[in-house]
Amino acid sequence: MSSQSNARNSLRNTQPPYLHPAYVSTQKRAPLKPLILLPENLSHASGPVFGHETVQASDADLTRQHSGEPLGERILVSGRVLDEEGRPVRGALIELWQANAAGRYRHDLDNHAAPLDPNFTGCGRVLTDDQGAYSFVSIKPGAYPWRNHENGWRPAHIHFSLFGAGILSRLVTQMYFPGDPLFARDPIFNSIPDEAARARLISVFDWQTTKAEYALGYRFDIVLRGEKSTPMETSHP
Ligand SMILES: [Fe+2]
Repeated sequence: MSSQSNARNSLRNTQPPYLHPAYVSTQKRAPLKPLILLPENLSHASGPVFGHETVQASDADLTRQHSGEPLGERILVSGRVLDEEGRPVRGALIELWQANAAGRYRHDLDNHAAPLDPNFTGCGRVLTDDQGAYSFVSIKPGAYPWRNHENGWRPAHIHFSLFGAGILSRLVTQMYFPGDPLFARDPIFNSIPDEAARARLISVFDWQTTKAEYALGYRFDIVLRGEKSTPMETSHP
């Protein structure tokens, strides 16, 4: 095997395969035929894909979207978005969504027998600044059960979606919390073959951003593309 194909394989192991049988829905949605590669052109690397003006500063504080404060452990999630050369990705739109502290989403299809929180919707968005930095205020989401397998539970996580300046900076992924006992049994987390790549989805508890008498800080840096790239949420070539 050439060193080039070795490099390709090691890169592949940093991303989950389309088909990971232990994650049951991939059995239905994984493509059956080889993918068709589209030729790259300038529009992949340029051109705004969303309106920056619609993003308000208050969209980044999920604890202040209702008349009262949500229940749960307040957290500050911050980090930087970088490209494969370590350069900041500026003006990227980050959207996030998450369950409440009890592990329940405000969504019609979530029928987990845990309480909804009238003061928590669980959605936010923010733009990265000139250093590629972002931050959110939220509450720590709870673990929740799912019916993928017998007694299945998802580790606590926050869903992230990124839109940079072009399609090459698109990423949908999940951020986890350090030391979660559910990692070992989660087929989504473990669909990423490479251990170091899985570890990149786990945020780091951070004293620097922990605010006294207010909230615990977690850092979650995101790398778009390249060897150190943050893994996609399943289904990535
Ligand atoms: Fe989720």
